[in-house]
Amino acid sequence: MSNKFIPIQTIQSLPNDLDINRLASSPLQVPSGQLYDTLLRPLHDLRISVTDRCNFRCTYCMPKDVFNKNYVYLPQTDLLSFEEILRIAKIFVAHGVRKIRLTGGEPLLRKNLEELVHMLSALKTVDGNSLDLTLTTNAALLAKKAQNLKDAGLSRITVSLDALNDHVFKQMNDVEFPVEQVLEGIQAAESVGFSQIKINMVVKKSVNAGEVVPMARFFKDSPHILRFIEFMDVGSSNAWCLDEVVPSHQIIDDLTKADMPLIPLPAHNNSETAARFQHLDSSGELGFISSVSQAFCHDCSRARLSTQGKLYTCLFASHGYDLRQHLRNLSLDQADLKIANLIQSIWEKRNDRYSELRGMANDSTFTDRQKIEMSYIGG
Ligand code: GTP
Ligand code: 5AD
Ligand code: SF4
Ligand code: SF4
Repeated sequence: MSNKFIPIQTIQSLPNDLDINRLASSPLQVPSGQLYDTLLRPLHDLRISVTDRCNFRCTYCMPKDVFNKNYVYLPQTDLLSFEEILRIAKIFVAHGVRKIRLTGGEPLLRKNLEELVHMLSALKTVDGNSLDLTLTTNAALLAKKAQNLKDAGLSRITVSLDALNDHVFKQMNDVEFPVEQVLEGIQAAESVGFSQIKINMVVKKSVNAGEVVPMARFFKDSPHILRFIEFMDVGSSNAWCLDEVVPSHQIIDDLTKADMPLIPLPAHNNSETAARFQHLDSSGELGFISSVSQAFCHDCSRARLSTQGKLYTCLFASHGYDLRQHLRNLSLDQADLKIANLIQSIWEKRNDRYSELRGMANDSTFTDRQKIEMSYIGG
């Protein structure tokens, strides 16, 4: 086990400077439908992790030397129930959230996930529109579950796939999982009516950089959107180093040299993670998620709810705010309003911009600090 790694259960919540008891004695405010942080970034997206477990051991996320048989996952009683997730999601939506992404670990490992999808799909944004309700999956179970997810009201799907070459893909997932089954999952999702499926590929220079061109060629004439993701220093266990990062501009050059020149497309909205591009011959869209070479904190509108019900205001946070204790300990009467006020206080104090600051720092103080694991907080 890496000596920098700290099991998640030992990480504490922040000291209670935002104590619910203090809030309880002050007048409660009904959510206004919009919240801004100290950098004037609105709260628009909520990413909910529904399990800390995964059936893959991607080397950049859940490396086997850490996530082995001795690793202690959260006990079932620690997980938020679907009803608890719905209550918290409702509060976030009342604060202006428009997009909810279900993540993990691997979210399809959570039993009856389609029931949660069904419950969340009934929520309406403050403008009265349907939520953008989406899911990130490794697709191992997608062929089996695609129809139920569609019927339950899921709007979109994102699939992680790091290579087309079986040997390289198995090196990345580290559980001998074949490419073919991921492609079957994508195909199944397409056939039940999911369109413009996003395919997320994390690029590690020494392992799958050679797969960039084959992946781009493969998805070029498909309706799907391939997105290249720079390997990030998220968590404390994936042995991140800058040498392993392939910057987006280099991928764009490689694709041009391979006769796939690209042209930029306008962003759908400011807070998008991916810069959008299109093949010059208009045959398909691609995305570049450049969190290392070009951080996108300035418009980050994402909050994250962990499997245990802690709220994180940044992917690289070391501390979360425990919302579950309030859900479970307060009497139902007015509890949701109090939690709404707690979330408001947290968001209004938010000043996170980890990736931007790390980009400016010339030392290792950033990458060395204790951070939450991505499998716990969700991608
Ligand atoms: P769409 O709404 O489909 O565009 O999804 P998204 O790009 O917001 O979410 P997705 O989970 O597909 O994100 C893709 C990848 O971008 C993640 O797996 C992370 O690697 C990275 N990412 C997502 N959100 C953040 C973020 O807030 N900060 C950083 N640094 N990286 C992020
Ligand atoms: N760097 C970049 N993306 C990562 N993910 C997990 N770990 C990392 C990392 N170190 C993202 C990938 C994957 C999703 C589940 O989480 O996009 O597809
Ligand atoms: Fe599992 Fe996704 Fe992490 Fe891979 S990246 S280990 S599939 S949660
Ligand atoms: Fe948002 Fe933190 Fe990612 Fe920056 S590093 S984009 S603030 S989650």
